[in-house]
Amino acid sequence: MAVSPDGGGGEWVAVRGCVGFLAGSGLLNWRLPALCGLYLMSILKAVRGTRDLLPPETELWNRVEATARRVFARYNFGEIRTPVFEDTQLFARGIGEETDVVSKEMYTWEDRARAASEKAQSLTLRPENTAGVVRAYIEHGLGETGLLQKLYYIGPQFRRERPQKGRYRQFSQIGAEVIGPVSSGSESPLRDAEVLEMLASFLDEVGVTGWRLAINSVGSSSDRPRYVAALREALIPVAAGMCVDCRRRAETNPLRVLDCKVPGDQAAIEALPRIADFLDEGSQVHFAALRAGLDVCGVPYTVDPRLVRGLDYYTRTTFEFTHDAGLGTQNALLGGGRYDGLSEMLGGPRAPGIGFAIGADRLVLTLQAGLAGAGAGLDSGSVLKADVFMAPVGEAQGPAALKLARELRAAGLRVELGDGNFRLKKSFEVADKVARKIVLLGEDEMATGVVTVKDFGTGVQSKVPRQNLASELRKVAPLGSPSALA
Ligand code: HAM
Repeated sequence: MAVSPDGGGGEWVAVRGCVGFLAGSGLLNWRLPALCGLYLMSILKAVRGTRDLLPPETELWNRVEATARRVFARYNFGEIRTPVFEDTQLFARGIGEETDVVSKEMYTWEDRARAASEKAQSLTLRPENTAGVVRAYIEHGLGETGLLQKLYYIGPQFRRERPQKGRYRQFSQIGAEVIGPVSSGSESPLRDAEVLEMLASFLDEVGVTGWRLAINSVGSSSDRPRYVAALREALIPVAAGMCVDCRRRAETNPLRVLDCKVPGDQAAIEALPRIADFLDEGSQVHFAALRAGLDVCGVPYTVDPRLVRGLDYYTRTTFEFTHDAGLGTQNALLGGGRYDGLSEMLGGPRAPGIGFAIGADRLVLTLQAGLAGAGAGLDSGSVLKADVFMAPVGEAQGPAALKLARELRAAGLRVELGDGNFRLKKSFEVADKVARKIVLLGEDEMATGVVTVKDFGTGVQSKVPRQNLASELRKVAPLGSPSALA
């Protein structure tokens, strides 16, 4: 392996043999690239902040997503799939120009006109999906049904943040939105309590224990101007000593000063007025009703008056579920809140709503930390094992093994098909790595209709008539259970 000629991070590999041959033949001159084609290949890697998910980790992802679909269906949610890129204006208007997400983290590009009939357009990979769902709600006139729309989504989001554990540039969210005209009950605090109660049920069902829920009210659109005016005034004497973003936001969008993470600014931020002191009676009653709903369901929570969240569309309820296991500093498992004015901000009808997004990457990290603690070993080094390795003994038995594997798969078993060219020893070695049992199919087995089965877990070898094979093999731990994992 040679050093990258561009001095960058790429690694370069000489194609062995080709270079050796040419060096020996005296052809190693300027014609080399033409003769050899790719004599030097850079090894391409996943882009910083993105990653591949491989088995067995993907099994856990599938389990998480299947649990979400199952739980959300019980609450009568339906799935929505929106595009992964949208008009940049959607996010600028919906999330807010001054938020970190819009001002610093979006992947935006100019999509040039390709025909005279087309216009150039600024497009952005979605950094979140609430704005996209509300756009779709407006575009498809979903409010005209007069019914509450309960929509969930699962998919990738993109933010150009500094990558670290639990923070990626492509990450996956499992989210849901409840939105509709006021007449559908969309403004009711019962909806807020129901969404939070559903999340508590989901986390319990997926196996996350020890989560914490923090809630707050950031006030209605009429409380907000009074609070923002108070913030702006309180910032006048202190802004000069704060970071450059805070100095700008003190003027343009004082609420976003509360998102600042710069350690030196925290004392000043702590001393700023609190939104709780600016809630009008309607917001206070709404918040009290949410808390009563949680109390009656026995969902534990704390009220965090600093929880304003980093997106401009929130009104009234905001919330976050956190968990410490496996997440390091990125301990927010999921977040959400109410956005009663978002539809109107996007040019749509009045349509209050509430929703959340679970960071699926963080949820999986949390589960992995818990499972590792319990010894289940769902780390990247472990292998999800097949129920059985079907080993043809000799090439001639290949087709029969293929057919028997097909029958077992039809019976619901997870089967790895071996190779008739393998020696018996090699079949056993491979089978032991990838499956929990091996079935030998040789000439004898073909003649007698009785196959040899070895269970690697117990070491027991037995003879099983072909017609009983599926039921015998099924006498194992179900797929995906801890004992099904190496
Ligand atoms: P958010 O708080 O920006 O809210 O993101 C929700 C969750 O996505 C976070 O709590 C975190 O778990 C995960 N997340 C965010 N950024 C990253 C990242 N760079 N890497 C890994 N995970 C990340 C929203 O996105 C709102 N749309 C939620 C919502 C729905 N509010 C109302 N409806």
